[in-house]
Amino acid sequence: MTNTGPVNLWTSSEHVSYYLERADSISHRAEGEAALLEFIAPDARRILDLGTGDGRLLALVRQRHPDTAAVALDFSPAMLGAARKRFADDTRVEVVEHNMDNPLPAFGKVDAVISSFAIHHLVHERKRALYAEIFDLLNAGGVFCNLEHVASPTQRLHEEFLHRIGFTVETEDPSNKLLDVETQLGWLREFGFADVDCHWKWRELALLAGVRP
Ligand SMILES: C[S@@+](CC[C@H](N)C(=O)[O-])C[C@H]1O[C@@H](n2cnc3c(N)ncnc32)[C@H](O)[C@@H]1O
Repeated sequence: MTNTGPVNLWTSSEHVSYYLERADSISHRAEGEAALLEFIAPDARRILDLGTGDGRLLALVRQRHPDTAAVALDFSPAMLGAARKRFADDTRVEVVEHNMDNPLPAFGKVDAVISSFAIHHLVHERKRALYAEIFDLLNAGGVFCNLEHVASPTQRLHEEFLHRIGFTVETEDPSNKLLDVETQLGWLREFGFADVDCHWKWRELALLAGVRP
């Protein structure tokens, strides 16, 4: 049977291995992660990580906020396996299988929703719907922090970015569905988020965040 849906290669274990082997070497990502950590409130108690991968971002957050409980969500068997391994001794992290192409399951409220380099794999319509679902999940004062791969304003800048991270238009991940920062910040404001901003950016890597009033 032919699969005519949007391309998403993340259920392939080869795709996952290729990413995990070079995940630490992605230029400037540690700066983006450090910027994200600043936005998690000291009194946050429950955190949801969307597209957790092997749990690297959530592990950084849990290190800084050991009193939190967390849900780590992904749909890729290889990533879920890696996350379960990372959090095997951490009873406060629940690893959950879910495809974000579909509405989020009922999790109960959380104080922070975090995500890194994951939501850009959803089609734009689903990104928008997910942002509304995230707003509904947050407690008052809760924050949404999306460290994201966003679109460049021009093809030349896109190609320069790819070159700097070791890719070309021929080798870039066909699972990417990149969207500009302005549209995404606009959606967050439209859904009622306050203090919406792009707090950090290096080329196509950006930290978008907003708070539920
Ligand atoms: C580039 S990796 C990032 C992983 C991790 N957040 C990190 O920063 O290293 C993208 C992640 O998004 C997940 N992902 C992509 N599409 C998804 C979907 N439809 N539902 C759930 N997870 C998805 C992939 O399985 C993968 O773990």
